[in-house]
Amino acid sequence: ISMATQNRPKVYVTRRVPEIGLQILSPHCEISQWQSDDPVARHELLKNVSGKDALFCLLTDKIDKEVLEQAGPSLRVIGTMSVGYEHIDLEECKRRNISVGFTPDVLTNATAELTVALLLATSRRLKEGIQAVADGSWGTWKPSWLCGSGLDGSTVGIVGLGRIGLAVAKRLSPFGVSKFLYYGRTEKETAKDIGAEFVSFDSLLEKSDFVLGCCSLTEDNKELFNKTAFQKMKKTAVFINTSRGGLVNQTDLYAALSTGQIAAAGLDVTSPEPLPIDNPLLTLHNCVILPHIGSATEKARSAMSEVTAKNILSFLKGQDMPSKLI
Ligand code: DGY
Repeated sequence: ISMATQNRPKVYVTRRVPEIGLQILSPHCEISQWQSDDPVARHELLKNVSGKDALFCLLTDKIDKEVLEQAGPSLRVIGTMSVGYEHIDLEECKRRNISVGFTPDVLTNATAELTVALLLATSRRLKEGIQAVADGSWGTWKPSWLCGSGLDGSTVGIVGLGRIGLAVAKRLSPFGVSKFLYYGRTEKETAKDIGAEFVSFDSLLEKSDFVLGCCSLTEDNKELFNKTAFQKMKKTAVFINTSRGGLVNQTDLYAALSTGQIAAAGLDVTSPEPLPIDNPLLTLHNCVILPHIGSATEKARSAMSEVTAKNILSFLKGQDMPSKLI
C-alpha cells in the first residue's frame, strides 16, 4: 500500500479514542472517525468501513463476516483497542488474509489493580460499609459488625494464569496470601514466580477462598461458572470476575449469592453490558458490580490507543506489528 500523500491508506476509527492514536496515524493515513464516545451504530459501521484499508475498532464493535464483506478486498488490517478479541471473527479474517492487532501488556497492570480492588471490596464488605454510613445505619462500634474474611492466610485460585492472572497474584502476595492455585489449558512456567500450583478446575473450586476469573472467553468456557461450579465452592468463598461476563451463568450466580452457597462476588464484567438496572444481582449486598473499568486508567487507555495505531501503521508500512494477534 502506497504511503504517498496523494494515495494515503484509508483508516476508519469507530470511536473517539485517546488522541495519541490519531496523532500516530494522521501523518500517514486518511482518517475517518465516528465522532462520539458511544459505539458506532451497526448501519454506520457497515457504511463507513466500505473501501477502507484499515479498521481501528473497539470491543463493542462486532466485526463479523458481514462487516468484512462490506469493507471489501481493500481491508487488510484491523487493530482492536482491547486485549479481548471475541468480538472479531478471526477465522473469517484469516480466510480473507486480514491481519489483526490487539493491545496486551499495556492494560495488564491497570486490570490487575482493579481485580485486587474487587477482592478487597468484597472480602472487607466495603459496599455494605459505604451504604451504612450513607443511610444512617452506622451505629456504635460493634465487635462483630461487618467482619469479613480478608486476604491474610487465604488460598487464591486463579482461572487463567496469563498476563493479568500473574500480575494479580504478584500484587496479592504482599497481602499474606498463603497459597496460589491455578487452572487453565496448560501449565505455565511463570507459575514458579509466585509458587502457584496447577490443579484441576474442581480442586481449585473446592480449595480456594477466592476464585478469580482471569481467562479469555472462548467457545469452550462459556458459563464455566455455573450452578455446578458454585456448588463446589466453599460457603465462605468469594468469586471475582474481571475478564468477560460470558464466563458466568448470572442466574446461577444470583442463586449462589442469595442462598449463601458462596459468600460474595465482585464483577467488573457482566452479560449484557450495561447490566439492566432491574437485574437481581443489583439487589444483593454481597455483590459488587463495576462497569467494565479494569483498564480505565489514563495511562492504560492512552497506551491502548497508541498500540492500536502502531499496529495498524506498522502493518501498512510492511513492518511487524508490535502486538499481532494473527
Ligand atoms: C479489553 O481490552 O479487552 C478489556 O476488556 C477492556 O480494556
